[in-house]
Amino acid sequence: SEALPTGYSVRPLERSDFQAGFLDVLRVLTTVGDVQKEEFEKRFDEMKAGSGYHVLVILDGEEKIVGTGALVVEKKFIHSLGLVGHIEDIAVTKDQQGKKLGLRIIQALDYVAEHVGCYKTILDCSEANEGFYVKCGFKRAGLEMAHYY
Ligand code: ACO
Repeated sequence: SEALPTGYSVRPLERSDFQAGFLDVLRVLTTVGDVQKEEFEKRFDEMKAGSGYHVLVILDGEEKIVGTGALVVEKKFIHSLGLVGHIEDIAVTKDQQGKKLGLRIIQALDYVAEHVGCYKTILDCSEANEGFYVKCGFKRAGLEMAHYY
């Protein structure tokens, strides 16, 4: 099936989603910190229309945010001024995992990437999540390196 469960929907992140518990969904992924509403809104404004940030959320039948994911579109000089999609910050709330919500987020972000003209989309993940991304159509390519400050 290519659909979300009945009553569920997917849409871009909205400025009012701070109240809807958006940051709590991200807490299943990593440390979010003590981010205030005004700080969330400032960051949201920096990421909107034309910035190359596409943050999606999945809502359950009660309009509660239960999943999220982001696509960042990187502009290049190489590959004839090519665009590369980066999938970031995929999270599905614990009690909603295993319902294909993660898969639907990836499919939606992939659709955006292809339609804005990306020639590829890449992401970093742990070994523990490799199987999930393989099921989403990705394959292992390269090696991540990091320099933390
Ligand atoms: N390893 C192997 N297969 C998996 C895994 C896994 N860790 N997780 C899910 N799958 C499989 C499912 O069984 C399913 O297979 P099926 O089609 O044969 O039934 C398929 O992948 C799709 O799974 P979904 O139900 O869509 O997965 P879910 O909605 O639970 O979302 C996710 C997966 C996003 C990894 C979720 O478990 C989660 O939020 N985890 C915590 C946060 C996290 O690790 N996020 C990813 C970080 S990497 C990044 O953001 C780029």
